[in-house]
Amino acid sequence: MHDDRIHVGGDLDPKSAAYDIAIVGGGPGGYVAAIYGARQGARVVLIEKDTPGGTCLNRGCIPTKALVRTTEVYKTMQEAARYGCRGENIQVDFGRAMARKNRVVSGLVKGVESLLNKHTVTVLGGWGRLVDRETVAVKTTDHETLVKARHIIIATGSEPVSLPIPGALGSYTIDSTQALELQELPSSMVIIGGGVIGMEFAFIFARLGVKVTVIEYLDRILSLLDHDLSQEVFRSARTAGIKIHTSAKVTSIEEGADGQGVVAFEHAVTGEAFPELSAEKVLMAVGRRPFLEGVGAAELGIELDDSSGGIRVDDRMQTNIENIYAIGDVTGQLMLAHVASHQGIVAVDNILGQHSVMDYRAVPNAIFTDPEIAAVGISEDEAKARGIAVKVGRFPFAGNGKALTLGMSRGFVKLVTEPDTGIIIGGSVVGPGATDLIGEITLAVQHRLTARQVARTIHAHPTLPEAILEAAWAAESGALHLAD
Ligand code: NAI
Repeated sequence: MHDDRIHVGGDLDPKSAAYDIAIVGGGPGGYVAAIYGARQGARVVLIEKDTPGGTCLNRGCIPTKALVRTTEVYKTMQEAARYGCRGENIQVDFGRAMARKNRVVSGLVKGVESLLNKHTVTVLGGWGRLVDRETVAVKTTDHETLVKARHIIIATGSEPVSLPIPGALGSYTIDSTQALELQELPSSMVIIGGGVIGMEFAFIFARLGVKVTVIEYLDRILSLLDHDLSQEVFRSARTAGIKIHTSAKVTSIEEGADGQGVVAFEHAVTGEAFPELSAEKVLMAVGRRPFLEGVGAAELGIELDDSSGGIRVDDRMQTNIENIYAIGDVTGQLMLAHVASHQGIVAVDNILGQHSVMDYRAVPNAIFTDPEIAAVGISEDEAKARGIAVKVGRFPFAGNGKALTLGMSRGFVKLVTEPDTGIIIGGSVVGPGATDLIGEITLAVQHRLTARQVARTIHAHPTLPEAILEAAWAAESGALHLAD
């Protein structure tokens, strides 16, 4: 139902509160919600204690991808001879690579600031704290301003967690933020956690010449993915010189004689101790938790989710308090930038009286390891575990002309379909361009396209998406460029 107190377009009623929406936190959740809300004519204030863009832009997705690009260029130059080129004395200048990364980040931050400005979003720098249901106190170092709004969106994000073990906070221990601020390349690094962050950094640092060891608690790395996908990356990691210990639990970190971190770990099931590992840096990548510090949520009686510790929301992103919404990592759900942005749009729609709900059936996951991995919808392993009958169409990049010309023929595309209807309910890609290719599969899953419809769509030749076309044929009546 439309909330007639909402100001949409025109001049504000001076008797009403100053803002329609106050958003606390300017990451990909908050800033997208702000721009979208302003575009719909609402008066929006965005409160951010740091620079706009949040973790993703400043300390996550973007800076890591800028460094991934450096490793790609370096690797290609090292392998120049494979492509008939000559290159000698190829070296990484870590300082310049980091400076480039910083330039990419600051360029994007400026872009976001200018978008907010162009859409007439009021941006207030400072720490936002909810003091009542319609008031946010914004604190800077020397003063506090009270901001009134009819609706509030909490979008304060998440922070890295640390293990509750001795030595976890030693000088040699870093988190993902500090890893992106290193001034010099360490000679060696132990990464605790073989999840998304751990493996992306493992490839970055190993490719730059750091001796990397990953310690993962579960029996395989990237356990959120199908076995065949994580196995592909496991093999590639080994080839890149990354040592991986699985089913391994870190018990303590101590300072060694030379200032290095000495990591003690044991078998996660038997408890048998492994030989200790020493490294110049120990990167903690064991997950993130919702960031609720000083936001005032608990004081206002905003309910939290028992399992994630994040703010509990319904599928309209509304909290238990009618005019307060929460989006992004702070909800403790899928901690992905693009999910946060989408949740922001859903929250604003509901605030502006348009019923809108989150639909998580087609959320793509993009992981920038080497090779890249991406997945969407129901996976083959998940279908098996849930007893859902599926037909899987698979096609290897080894049969794709473009992949062969790129010299990147490792990996495959996999489509998961309903056997009776052929509807594509999930898919994954491991290999060249995986994180871009997932777009087509996401569209298919979201709109319940069938393998036949994709197979009957003309795909340009020679391109990587032809591997999706062939996987669709494989699920339909058999791949054309595969002798099976
Ligand atoms: P994660 O949950 O993906 O991985 C943490 C890993 O640490 C797990 O595999 C876990 O088994 C392991 N672990 C936990 N305790 C351990 C112990 N004591 N010893 C050894 N291993 C232990 O969390 P991660 O990688 O920190 O990422 C946090 C969030 O950020 C995730 O939700 C992730 O999806 C998101 N993210 C997504 C990215 C992307 O989509 N490209 C990039 C970076 C982060």
